Parts: sequence; C-alpha cells; structure tokens
Amino acid sequence: MAQKTTAGFMAMKGSGYYSKATIGAKHVMDNASGMVIDAVDRMRLVDDGSTFRASDMGSADGGTSVDLWRKVLSHVRHKVPSRPIEMIYTDLPRNDFSQVFQMIHGLTDIKSYYDEIDDLYVFASGTSFHQPILPPETLDLGFSATASHYVSRTPCNITNHVHMVGANGDERAAFTAQGARDWESMLLWRARELVPGGRLCLFNFGIDEEGRYLGNTGGVSMFDTFNELWAGLAEDGIITREEYLITNFPQHYRTVDEFTAPLNDTSSPVYQAGLRLERVETRVVRCPFERDFADSHKDPKRFAEEYLPTLRSWSEATFMGGLSADRQPEEKMQIIDTFYGRYQARVAAEPAGHAMDYVHCYLIASKER
Ligand SMILES: C[S@@+](CC[C@H](N)C(=O)[O-])C[C@H]1O[C@@H](n2cnc3c(N)ncnc32)[C@H](O)[C@@H]1O
Repeated sequence: MAQKTTAGFMAMKGSGYYSKATIGAKHVMDNASGMVIDAVDRMRLVDDGSTFRASDMGSADGGTSVDLWRKVLSHVRHKVPSRPIEMIYTDLPRNDFSQVFQMIHGLTDIKSYYDEIDDLYVFASGTSFHQPILPPETLDLGFSATASHYVSRTPCNITNHVHMVGANGDERAAFTAQGARDWESMLLWRARELVPGGRLCLFNFGIDEEGRYLGNTGGVSMFDTFNELWAGLAEDGIITREEYLITNFPQHYRTVDEFTAPLNDTSSPVYQAGLRLERVETRVVRCPFERDFADSHKDPKRFAEEYLPTLRSWSEATFMGGLSADRQPEEKMQIIDTFYGRYQARVAAEPAGHAMDYVHCYLIASKER
C-alpha cells in the first residue's frame, strides 16, 4: 500500500480541545520563553519603521504558545516602537485555524495578547514547514515548538510497533533517513526566509543524551502502551491486522546529533545557506497530570480521567488514520473510544509509572549577516 502524506490527514483535535488538554506543551514554551527573548536581544534590531515579522510554525490552535508570544512580542514592541509587527501562525491545511483567530480576538477563555500590543497584525498560513511559507529574506524570528518531529510522510510501515522508537533494522533506518531529509528541508526553507541576522528558535521532541523521549523517562513507556493496546484490538478482532500494520505515527524523534548535524557540517546545504547554531540543550518537563496525582490528589481514577485527553489530543488523528476507509465514521469513533477507554482503565487500575514527561531539544540558530 502507498504511504500516506502527513498533510493529508494530520490535525490536532479541534475546537480548542488541543490547548485545553495539552497544558504540558504550554509549560514547555513558558519555561523557555527567556531563550526566545535572549535571541531577540542578540538580533540587534534597528528601530527603522520596517515590519518585524515572526512566525509560529506548527502552532495548532495557538493556545499553548499565547503566553510566550505575549512576552516576546511585548519585548519586541518595547525595543522597536516604530516597527509594525506581523505575527504569522502556520500549520498543515487541516488545522483548525478558526480557533486561532477566535483565541486571538478574545472569543475563547484563553487570554489573548492582541489588545496589549500596538501596531500588531495577525495572519495564518496553511502551508507545511517543509515548503516555502514566506518570501525570501522577510522573516525576522522563526519559531516552532513540538512540531518538527512530524515527518512529511511515513516512509514504510512498522511491522511490530506504531512508532519509530519501537522500530528496528531497515524500518528504523527508513524513519531516520526521512527525518534527516525533512529536517534539512525545514531548515533550508527557513534559511531562505530569514533576514540576515534573523533567528530561528526550534523546541522539538527528541531523544536526549540518556535515551529518554516523550512518555519514556523511566516508568511505563507510553508508546509501548499505545502499541500493546492497538495490537490488542487486532487480537480481539476489533481492528484488522492490516489496520494495525498501517497505523504508524508519522514522526521521527531525532537525537541531538541528528538535530545539529546540518548546522555543524560546513559542507551541508543548510550551513552553506548561512544558518549557524547558536545554542542547543535538552530538558525534561514533568507531566503535569502525573505531578498533580503523585504530589497532591493521589486519586488513580481522577489521574486516568485527566491524563487521557492529553494523549488523545495529538495521537487520535494517527489511530483514526489507520482505520479502513470502508468503516463508517460512527464505527471508527467507537473503536477509538474503546482504545482510549482501555488505556484509561489501565492507568486507573495501576497508575504507577504512567506519565507523559516532555523531552525536548531546544535549538537556536542565526542567519549570517
Ligand atoms: C503537537 S502539536 C504542537 C502545537 C504547538 N506548537 C505546541 O507546542 O503546543 C504539532 C503541530 O504541528 C503540526 N505540523 C505537523 N507537521 C507540520 C508541517 N509539516 N507543517 C506545519 N505544521 C505541521 C501539526 O498539525 C500540529 O498542529
């Protein structure tokens, strides 16, 4: 079977579900907003009345990054009062962009920054970050959080797992190669878009120096649990073996070496295009639902109920996408509910070790002047 493109089916759960359920992704950005402000300070901006343009690539509904942008854009406003600011949210075409504008214009319960910053213009683009989004040399500050682990297509089915972290041999190698190609194109297009002296701040899921990654920091592995439960549905005849096989997260978790290779290798097209590594580090941000459970309420049922929506907000599209097109939408939804219901029951019965701790690689690059 031909492999699917990610743009053809991928979207976070819409209508504001994503940012409501995914508070941990917000913590990741809030904790790192100082890195973006420092990057702005290193840009040596001139207050010459020209437009300052920023992009939030893979923004989903924009709710998780709102406080980061409040701080960063206020900082820019203060530094260069004469420059109009353009803020551009980007994501794949199926993203719920309406939610971005409802959030910006105060129609949701999220506190927008829009009224706090003068001379601000907000736009959106539904073009993949593996393609050109903006004209050459028009972007001052490119930002993306928790998005570039999505590859543009699944390079092959993974026989024994649903995620590349469980893949072996040639299958693992195919994801690594796809991840390298997509990372290079992400960086190359941004190198073209950035103004000389512009900055890229990319905070991505990855595999850290101790081999940790999202939901795999020493306790129960989240991706192994996904895999066991999805395979269990196949064993129980609820989904077919073919559906199990074609369900693959279109993601590659890169190591720090994989992230930095195109920026360190002086012969790489990315280096040749003028992108330079300024800073790189990994951090682990604790799962807020596990923290509340372990440090405060200690109620397994409540933990399971609060924890599952965060997993579902970003993973549902992949499991839904693995189901046969011959199934009716209601039948698909029933299967998906059964799947997450089993995960929730498992957490409620034996909560110890379950946690979606965030493991990120924080990378800042500059475009040569
Ligand atoms: C886990 S969400 C992260 C949302 C937000 N940046 C955050 O940190 O909370 C990943 C987002 O990346 C988007 N995405 C995946 N591949 C993309 C691509 N090639 N171009 C633009 N957005 C992409 C997904 O549609 C999704 O909205």
